[in-house]
Amino acid sequence: MEIGPGSTAIVSGATHGIGRATARALAGRGAAVGLIARNRGEVEALAEELPRAVALPADVADPAATQEAVEGFVVKAGQLDLLVANAGLAHTAPFTELEPDKAEEMVQVNFIGTLNQIRAGLPRMLDRGRGHIVIVSSAAALRGFPWTAVYGATKAAQKTFAEALRHELSGTGVSLSTVMPGSVTTDLHSHERGRMPDWWRRGEKIGPEQVAEAIVDAVAHDRREVHVPKSVRLLGLNSLAPAAVDRLLALLRGGSAAPRRY
Ligand SMILES: NC(=O)c1ccc[n+]([C@@H]2O[C@H](COP(=O)([O-])OP(=O)(O)OC[C@H]3O[C@@H](n4cnc5c(N)ncnc54)[C@H](OP(=O)(O)O)[C@@H]3O)[C@@H](O)[C@H]2O)c1
Repeated sequence: MEIGPGSTAIVSGATHGIGRATARALAGRGAAVGLIARNRGEVEALAEELPRAVALPADVADPAATQEAVEGFVVKAGQLDLLVANAGLAHTAPFTELEPDKAEEMVQVNFIGTLNQIRAGLPRMLDRGRGHIVIVSSAAALRGFPWTAVYGATKAAQKTFAEALRHELSGTGVSLSTVMPGSVTTDLHSHERGRMPDWWRRGEKIGPEQVAEAIVDAVAHDRREVHVPKSVRLLGLNSLAPAAVDRLLALLRGGSAAPRRY
């Protein structure tokens, strides 16, 4: 599906990082964009800045609020062509030190929030026989990294869910792409930057605009899975040869990426 003037899209997590860059990229192509995030002031400020944007302050972990946001957008914009389920957060720590409420928050926002958004938006697309969903997962879905056990699990849950749903949507006119970014320069870890593990510090980082362009490209070409940068795809080898991937990561990212050898 080409995005252009007349297109309608909702982006969650729209006020920072990947979501903001995506909202800008879509608005720049003439789309009307609904902006979901929790901080009302930031949502409204971005809606002022982008042409034809609609502020939809909501918490994606709240199914009723998410439904209301999506319905509110459809009333204003007339329809929903594209839903970018991007809202997410991270708490990085050894599992034994991760507070249970922080682990549960990641599950609620990153995974259940994805389901809430799709439950709210997909019926509208199926009724019209047209639409596209993008799920922003992560490289962390392909290989578990120390200190991100729960975060990575939420991203793997999104990936597996997306794989199955893409097949289920065959023949409906609605499609779905999964986007797996590597490390991106955003605010995801701003609250914990001082305690991030060594492997994270040593990695290559890309800008959020690169991910936004990959999202637009995935929609235009109905791509199944997109890795940004392309090297992220190598992590998929983990399911076939985990020891080799451990060795490679230890070389590239240092021992903290793969402290256990067997
Ligand atoms: N940055 C990376 O290295 C990286 C790599 C791979 C994948 N990702 C994924 O990319 C997505 C976006 O992350 P980012 O790096 O752009 O993070 P970010 O800069 O921290 O932005 C996160 C956005 O999500 C919103 N948000 C958080 N919790 C929300 C909730 N419960 N309901 C609605 N909106 C919520 C935030 O606004 P409010 O706080 O106002 O709600 C903000 O707009 C996430 O799913 C993340 O897992 C990021």
